[in-house]
Amino acid sequence: MNMEIVQQHNGKINIILHDQQKEQQCKETTQKQHHEQLHYIDDQFAAFIGLDHVKEIMREIYALKLMNAQRDEYGMRKNKQVLHMMFMGNPGTGKTTIARQLATVLYELNILSKGHFIEAERADIVGEYIGQTAQKTRTLIQKAQGGVLFIDEAYSLGRGGHKDFGREAIDTIVKQMEDYHEDFLLILAGYPGEMEQFLHLNPGLRSRFAYHVSFSDYNLAELMRITKQLITERDYELTDAAEREIRVHIQEVLYHKPLHFSNARYVRNIIEKAIRKQAMRLLSTYDVTPKDLKQITRADISLE
Ligand SMILES: Nc1ncnc2c1ncn2[C@@H]1O[C@H](COP(=O)(O)OP(=O)(O)OP(=O)(O)O)[C@@H](O)[C@H]1O
Ligand SMILES: [Mg+2]
Repeated sequence: MNMEIVQQHNGKINIILHDQQKEQQCKETTQKQHHEQLHYIDDQFAAFIGLDHVKEIMREIYALKLMNAQRDEYGMRKNKQVLHMMFMGNPGTGKTTIARQLATVLYELNILSKGHFIEAERADIVGEYIGQTAQKTRTLIQKAQGGVLFIDEAYSLGRGGHKDFGREAIDTIVKQMEDYHEDFLLILAGYPGEMEQFLHLNPGLRSRFAYHVSFSDYNLAELMRITKQLITERDYELTDAAEREIRVHIQEVLYHKPLHFSNARYVRNIIEKAIRKQAMRLLSTYDVTPKDLKQITRADISLE
């Protein structure tokens, strides 16, 4: 056996494991921790319908971090781990929600040291006189170190043409992204067409993002899953008739494909409206039961 039993002066028994065995145990523990971390990633994104590619990106970031640490132990060169991401997707496809979640998860995985989330838009970045924009942008990036800086509707920075200070902001961001790529995640988000145009404003912009993440529009099945999830989360349930009503309505809306359909936000609004309507209905009901409180009926669903 690869183990030694030694009795100490005080009578205590000490078991000494030989190196090989210790190393094996160490490897097993590390392996177990890695599995736990991967499960943790899956769990954190489990509530999001679709979006498997986001999960995959997280696993990739985690894998690279681990391999870098191991290469470092063997004195090998570490890979540069750039986190910066570009999110492209229509309204209500989950860009902001996922960005917030990334801050938490990357912090838990020890990839970001603080995990705070700063959301900014054009007005927070673009100044009113020469030099102010660069300063504002740098300050914001400094504040976001160790966490996530989420710039929504990023294309609005390039909106004002050549004389606009938005360009100054973009140039500053490009420079800063290069200098701060570890322990800092910059996410630029916006609608697909506009973000494509935006990428043309500065030739260095596209290649500085390690991940270009597309958030697709949800189909009927996904929107119905999101509906049920939102209902369950809030401790309600839909009667069959209510569910059918919503399904038929969404099917119709998707068929006509409105220009700015707001995806998951659209169904969230339907649910929130139904909850308010149910409350009003129950107000005039004598002796409200727990079942009444829970059920959203067809009468509660108001659709436009
Ligand atoms: N995959 C999903 N699963 C469950 N809920 C989702 C999903 N995607 C979005 N939602 C919900 O839809 C709502 C809108 O999402 P969010 O605000 O993140 O969208 P967005 O892409 O940032 O939209 P916008 O471009 O209009 O800012 C949120 O309440 C979010 O919880
Ligand atoms: Mg958003």
